[in-house]
Amino acid sequence: MNKIVSANTLPQTLPDNPMHLAKSWFDAACSKNNQPNPNAMTLVTVSKSNHPSARIVLCKSFIADPGYVVFFTNYQSRKSSEITHNSNVSLVFHWDHLGRQIRIEGKAILSSSEESDAYFKTRNLGSQLSAWGSDQSRPIESREKLIEQMKQRADELTLNNEINAKEMANPFKLTRPPHWGGIQIWASKIELWMVGEDRVHDRATWSRELLLTDGNTFTTGKWLGTRLQP
Ligand SMILES: Cc1cc2nc3c(=O)[nH]c(=O)nc-3n(C[C@H](O)[C@H](O)[C@H](O)COP(=O)(O)O)c2cc1C
Repeated sequence: MNKIVSANTLPQTLPDNPMHLAKSWFDAACSKNNQPNPNAMTLVTVSKSNHPSARIVLCKSFIADPGYVVFFTNYQSRKSSEITHNSNVSLVFHWDHLGRQIRIEGKAILSSSEESDAYFKTRNLGSQLSAWGSDQSRPIESREKLIEQMKQRADELTLNNEINAKEMANPFKLTRPPHWGGIQIWASKIELWMVGEDRVHDRATWSRELLLTDGNTFTTGKWLGTRLQP
């Protein structure tokens, strides 16, 4: 039994702020080359009619203090419109090779336009064009129609860029579409899970209050942690 308990466990005394430990797990997973998208997380949103839906998105920032993660998406997508109706979301990271899982529950809010612009600038041209070319989550007749739509929008955009080329340092860097940007997920609850031998895993959960202050940030209460049976 001693072997199981000491093999792979959370600290005996749980940290006051779990987000730093969670971020160290995220950073460790991202620095190892063990899977193509170590920053992938499953995001669950809830529809107007209370139906949950899940999909993978990529975590582009993990901010331990004050405690939120950021992903980027189309603001007219299904997930975004569900978030507009109900900002309560949950997400899960899972790194099988590390035997670790992080579950987060919290509130989603849009990133500032500065945060969205800054990230959009780091994307390569192809990814920037995709953000303009795809009306994410909307139906389209065929794959050919989609490619045609994307080519047409790319032509319009690069033509406009050539007109502005003199003023722009890089003529082929596009501006961010207004319907595309970041979403921050502020954690009100987090669970850290580590695999244990014979399924004697180690788990702890922390909760805190989130108070929306001015529409785009939260004041946060103190984290309270509890160890859970696996
Ligand atoms: C590995 C992987 C990474 C993905 N990353 C993103 C992402 O960062 N943002 C995004 O909008 N969609 C991403 N997707 C696509 C989503 O899973 C989903 O298909 C899309 O966002 C539409 O979801 P919705 O219709 O529920 O809004 C990713 C899919 C996979 C498999």
